[in-house]
Amino acid sequence: MLLNVHQRLLGEFFTKKNESEGVHMKIAVAGTGYVGLSNAVLLAQNHQVFALDVIAEKVELINQRVSPIGDAEIERFFAEKELDLTATLSPEEAYRGAEFVVISTPTNYDEEKHFFDTSSVEAVIEDVLEINPGGDDDY
Ligand SMILES: NC(=O)c1ccc[n+]([C@@H]2O[C@H](COP(=O)([O-])OP(=O)(O)OC[C@H]3O[C@@H](n4cnc5c(N)ncnc54)[C@H](O)[C@@H]3O)[C@@H](O)[C@H]2O)c1
Repeated sequence: MLLNVHQRLLGEFFTKKNESEGVHMKIAVAGTGYVGLSNAVLLAQNHQVFALDVIAEKVELINQRVSPIGDAEIERFFAEKELDLTATLSPEEAYRGAEFVVISTPTNYDEEKHFFDTSSVEAVIEDVLEINPGGDDDY
C-alpha cells in the first residue's frame, strides 16, 4: 500500500527523470523501515541505490532479497524485478557521491519531553555533510 503511494510521488519523479534524461543516479536511502525500503526498492529499478541501516540483520536480509518487513509488494519486487540495490552499514559507502539522500529514520514522539525526537535525522544530515559536502561534485 505505502509502496503504491510512493510510486505515485517520489518514485514517479525519479522514473520520469530517468526516462526523459536517461539519468542513472546514485541515491542513498537512510533507514530501511517501511518508508525507506519502499522508496529504495522503487528507486532501484532505475537508479543505483544504497540503503543504509544500523541493524546488520536487516542489511543482510535485503542483500539476500528477503524483506525484513512483512510487505507483499516489496516481496514481489524482490522476486520479480531487477534492482540495483545494495544495503549497507557503511555511511561512507552510502553517501559518498550520492546525488540524493532520502532520510527515513525514526522521528518518534517523546511522551516525556513532548517533542518529536529527530536526533536520528540530524545524525544522518551530519554524516552526509561530512562525507559528501559538495553533493555529487566529487563523484
Ligand atoms: N510508516 C509510515 O506510514 C510513515 C508515514 C509518514 C511518515 N513516516 C516517518 O518516516 C520515517 C520512517 O518511518 P518507518 O515507519 O519506515 O520507520 P521504521 O522505524 O520502521 O524504520 C526506521 C529504520 O531506520 C533505521 N535507523 C535508525 N537510525 C538510523 C541511522 N542513524 N541511520 C540509518 N538507519 C537508521 C532503523 O534501524 C529502522 O530500520 C519516520 O520518521 C516516520 O515518522 C512514516
